[in-house]
Amino acid sequence: MSVHDIVYEIPEPLQSGTYVNDTQYNELYRRSLDDGDSFWEEMAREYIHWNKEWHTVSKWDYVKGEIEWFAGAELNVSYNCIDRHLAVRADKTALIWEGNEPGDVQTFTYRELHARVCKAANVLQSLGVTKGDRVALYLPMVPELTFFMLACARIGAIHSVIFAGFSAESLRDRVLDASCKVLITADEGLRGSKTIPLKAIADEAVRQCPCIETVLVVQRTNGNIDLEQGRDVLAGPLMEQASPECEPVSCSSEDPLFILYTSGSTGKPKGVLHTQGGYLLYTTVTHKYVFDYREDDVYFCAADIGWITGHSYIVYGPLSNGATTVMFESTPMYPDAGRYWDVCERHKVNIFYTAPTALRSIEKHGDDFPAQYDLSALRVLGSVGEPINVDAWEWYFKVVGREQCSLVDTWWQTETGGILLTPLPGATRLKPGSATRPFFGIEPCLIDDNGQEVADAVGKGRLFMKRSWPGQMRTVYGDHDRFVQTYFSEQPGYYFSGDAAERDSDGYYWVRGRVDDVVNVSGHRLGTAEIESAIDSSPAVVEAAVVGAPHDIKGTALFAFCVPAVEDMTDEEMQNSVKEAVRKEIGAFAIPDTIRFSSSLPRTRSGKIMRRILRKIAAGDTRDLGDVSTLADASIIQELLSA
Ligand code: WT7
Repeated sequence: MSVHDIVYEIPEPLQSGTYVNDTQYNELYRRSLDDGDSFWEEMAREYIHWNKEWHTVSKWDYVKGEIEWFAGAELNVSYNCIDRHLAVRADKTALIWEGNEPGDVQTFTYRELHARVCKAANVLQSLGVTKGDRVALYLPMVPELTFFMLACARIGAIHSVIFAGFSAESLRDRVLDASCKVLITADEGLRGSKTIPLKAIADEAVRQCPCIETVLVVQRTNGNIDLEQGRDVLAGPLMEQASPECEPVSCSSEDPLFILYTSGSTGKPKGVLHTQGGYLLYTTVTHKYVFDYREDDVYFCAADIGWITGHSYIVYGPLSNGATTVMFESTPMYPDAGRYWDVCERHKVNIFYTAPTALRSIEKHGDDFPAQYDLSALRVLGSVGEPINVDAWEWYFKVVGREQCSLVDTWWQTETGGILLTPLPGATRLKPGSATRPFFGIEPCLIDDNGQEVADAVGKGRLFMKRSWPGQMRTVYGDHDRFVQTYFSEQPGYYFSGDAAERDSDGYYWVRGRVDDVVNVSGHRLGTAEIESAIDSSPAVVEAAVVGAPHDIKGTALFAFCVPAVEDMTDEEMQNSVKEAVRKEIGAFAIPDTIRFSSSLPRTRSGKIMRRILRKIAAGDTRDLGDVSTLADASIIQELLSA
């Protein structure tokens, strides 16, 4: 029996009463392809409040990389996420914030969210921020992060959230790339037992960012910080004084909403740009159908808002649906491996969404943790970020979900804005490890090594999309050529995902991982070129090659092969120098698990590093290294193998 044959029926509680069953899925899916524009137009009318109607539903040109949805229309995203709910659910909890310490909770109703966001918007306006300006958010998972994102949306400013684990250098590069005018940070961040000196890191970055006029500081810990006269301001007192009313600015559907940096195959991160109408519609509709979201649900996505999952499925999708969304500041292991279940029990969570790497790290600590908590409110479980192995899937489904919950393995990317491949709770029989079928309006295809579309039902190849969907990214900020090159040049007319996949006889997709030099380490997306260039900055190294190797918990671990620059350093000194370089250039989360020094790297005669061989060595799979006939110097292999 192959893994393709393991099937779980739809759990009993979801067999009826969901938004769509299998027949309805098939009908709706057909319609969404046969008559895409009318399908999305209907969705747009039902789910979004528009100030002005569109003249064209969709228009895209995958040669030039020009994509538009609802052109001519106007809306305000923050109005859609807050104001329109006030008439019906002003006193409903919009946001439950669970702080680092268990039970340190703050809740905000939609009415309160409205006041906070308006105040934040007024604060930004008082600092001179207007429509189209870029605002950098370098914050931990505090409620102010959500307030300021929505405040930007309210006034048409473009936010750029930079994950609080990034170093000063990475922060600087991102702030400069988008020439942000204001940077919002916190005194310190708290994650588990760690305190992160965010303001001090931001100070170091901003010293080299002439574009920054103001640094706005949220006080999370009241830790000691330096405030630079004329540049730094505390957010608290300004928020207090600001008016709780702020008129939302009407934006065009294709105005930018945010920039979010992500790694690609080159050293320089890409500023993925998402726009207003299509993105909001797509996150709203996917959040509703994929999780079978209900009005009274408590919805908990455990991601960090520093990544796309948090943007789309903590903030925009759920709030647009008027949901109660949980924002979690801590880690799955603090104070112990039961923390997620503790949060689920106390807040009576119905829908829980996390990453396989977190599940694997908790699973290791046994079944007792989930068993200790009342998880009976759970109805839908979600997984995202990397392929989920059968073992972790079954643990999640059986031990956490007691076989009563659907488990939606959702495949998507920073670039896609929202979920593209996924089961629907009441429609899809589940197969552990498969993200199953396309969402409405999504038309995937596989392209084989000869550049031919796989015409048979069953097959494998690189994963492409044949048409646009509303949540698709619109450009790489400041580098449209790179957008076209990266996504539309592999197979003219199609969007290239960078992943390889298989399709089985049920039409289910099995995403196998990246085919480019992007690696996914514990849910953090990194480019190997980016890490190599960080390592190259170490005085101990002349050159480096980084590859991914399979890892039980992280999914992929980083393995760095380095050539020493000097002779008088010990291995330990060189290791530390490499770690320090990566910590400084990117952040501690990108430090390779293994760093190995050798006198050179395996290269072809034309000088290209043979990464295929390095991947095998890193994986410990050294019995057959494949074709080594093009190696310039075969002796390096012996050296690497004997290390
Ligand atoms: C890459 C995108 C989407 C939000 C988090 C990651 C991998 C993502 C799955 C899944 C297999 C997955 C792909 C993709 N990936 N979800 N369910 N099964 N692989 O966003 O950082 O932009 O990374 O994550 O390789 O290309 P991202």
